Amino acid sequence: MTLDGKVALVTGGSRGIGAATALRLAEDGADVALTYQHNAARAAEVVEQIKHLGRRALAIQADSADAAAVSAAVRATVAEFGGLDVLVNNAGVGFVGALAETSLEDVDRVLAVNVRGVFAATQAAAGVLGDGGRVITIGSCVTDRVPGPGMALYATSKAAMVGLTRALARELGPRGITVNLVHPGPTDTDMNPADGPYAVDQRALTAFDRYGRPSEVAAAVAYLASSGAGYVTASVLSVDGGHAA
Ligand SMILES: NC(=O)c1ccc[n+]([C@@H]2O[C@H](COP(=O)([O-])OP(=O)(O)OC[C@H]3O[C@@H](n4cnc5c(N)ncnc54)[C@H](OP(=O)(O)O)[C@@H]3O)[C@@H](O)[C@H]2O)c1
Repeated sequence: MTLDGKVALVTGGSRGIGAATALRLAEDGADVALTYQHNAARAAEVVEQIKHLGRRALAIQADSADAAAVSAAVRATVAEFGGLDVLVNNAGVGFVGALAETSLEDVDRVLAVNVRGVFAATQAAAGVLGDGGRVITIGSCVTDRVPGPGMALYATSKAAMVGLTRALARELGPRGITVNLVHPGPTDTDMNPADGPYAVDQRALTAFDRYGRPSEVAAAVAYLASSGAGYVTASVLSVDGGHAA
């Protein structure tokens, strides 16, 4: 149990990569809080699964676009579990659209969740993380290789995570906190189903000609959360099936 006695908060933990991550961290011994936006029933299912593993769990409704809600989620986690050791910035929204058809409202909406929400959660968490703390953000393989047109807004939002991760690794390192980024490739979730409209092309760009599983991304997060990754910071760990090769 590499995370025995640790407390984790996973944003967007009700489905997909976030749910798999919440479960994996619990399997490794952590108590886990997770946020969600709309889907209370799915969040409650993940909480039940974590409790079955013998860990404590908490679902918190918190729209990542609402900074007050995000920092309240950090406070609620600390109030429930007595601290916070691992923040996983997973909540995110996808966007595909040509530049000419992307409105500035689209820009504000996507950046509010994918960038501002991550900044707000990390700011709130940094106030309570101690020595050995972990900040792990889910970026995207589109930062390393853009598979086709229509990705400008989404790629912009995820590329921002590279700068944020490196800068915060410098800023929080002296306190013993690591800050890392995971770049999933095409991963079979509601956001990007393996039988969806873009699936064949995305699959073909991987070395395995297959989508990744949420649990494969979760395994990378679990490694970065573990004490074994104590000297790993400012890194980008790609779990992309070779998409960037
Ligand atoms: N799937 C891929 O191929 C892929 C590839 C690279 C990177 N990623 C990134 O991986 C992360 C997870 O993606 P996914 O594919 O697992 O997505 P998903 O299947 O759409 O699940 C998204 C999760 O985030 C939550 N969420 C969405 N908007 C939110 C908001 N404004 N505030 C709080 N929670 C919110 C959802 O909550 P509700 O259930 O309440 O809606 C859900 O739990 C994202 O950052 C995504 O950009 C995904």
